[in-house]
Amino acid sequence: MLPTIAWKNGMVVMVDQRFLPLKEKYLTLKTVEQVARAIENMVIRGAPAIGIAAAYGLTLGVQHLRPGVDIDKEFSRFYQRLWQTRPTARNLFWALERMKKVFEANRSQGLPAVKKILLSEARAIEKEDLEINKKIGQYGQKLIPDGATILTHCNAGALATAGYGTALGVIRAAFARKKKIKVLADETRPFLQGARLTVWELVRDRIPVTLITDNMAGWLMQRGEISLVIVGADRIARNGDTANKIGTYSLAVLAKEHRIPFYVAAPLSTFDFNLSTGKNIPVEERNPDEVRKAGHQFITLPEVPVKNPAFDITPGRLISAIITERGIIEKPYAGKLRSSYP
Ligand code: MRU
Repeated sequence: MLPTIAWKNGMVVMVDQRFLPLKEKYLTLKTVEQVARAIENMVIRGAPAIGIAAAYGLTLGVQHLRPGVDIDKEFSRFYQRLWQTRPTARNLFWALERMKKVFEANRSQGLPAVKKILLSEARAIEKEDLEINKKIGQYGQKLIPDGATILTHCNAGALATAGYGTALGVIRAAFARKKKIKVLADETRPFLQGARLTVWELVRDRIPVTLITDNMAGWLMQRGEISLVIVGADRIARNGDTANKIGTYSLAVLAKEHRIPFYVAAPLSTFDFNLSTGKNIPVEERNPDEVRKAGHQFITLPEVPVKNPAFDITPGRLISAIITERGIIEKPYAGKLRSSYP
């Protein structure tokens, strides 16, 4: 299993995803601030993984509190800091809210008990995420025909979760069932999660993968070289509108034109049941230098204005089905996506 994040001896250890696949470097984090920066700077990324990191970050802060401090004030400071790290993925807020509920329910038991309880809740979030991914894989693989060529975008794999992955979980489950599949990985400009992370994961698992640039999908679909598209999600509204890595929407439009199934795989912790549509999902705008540079090297004029939205929103009507840990939901989604689903 790939090492995304772990709690070790009162510290948070994570693989620094910015260096993959060239270097496998691990960071040991000791403070809430370090975890918050790791999320902001993409040391760890992917919706479920940043939720887990935030849960461990809160735990870390509380572990180091000394008797006599104002626990409520400190907890709220840690909570606010982590809340502000990245705006789009619902899982971050879901995990923080879950931890807060547990904190409030057990607060009266005193600091030593609260420390233990928060650690076990963060561990539960991590463990459950892995189980959920396996279930998504089991359901989702039914949608993958033997012999399929699957296009995926960004990285919705083990590195984006507690392990196994959502979209890559479906691919792993299909491969484990001996289906003869091939994966096309979009490089995913500008941060190159596809080229760096998805390729790395699939090569490690010996799943056949070919890297393509983001602008090749239309041509390959037109030539009949893609059987289906599967991606992960950062936030899903009640009508199925889905925020995911920039470029996802273009793929969904292309898939419709070529009558190719377009699937989203995501845990229920990615759903925002307060939103009826995707219109109000906040889309993160990241540092323009991510676009101006490849690695540390400028590839354009350093002063050129740049747009760098990290996500886009794909209308639910373009998504053939959403795969969750409770099963496959087919479009139309209106009335089907509720917290009590199914
Ligand atoms: O900016 P990132 O790398 O955090 O974006 C990640 C994605 O868009 C993933 O597709 C999404 O979080 C799903 S991960 C299971």
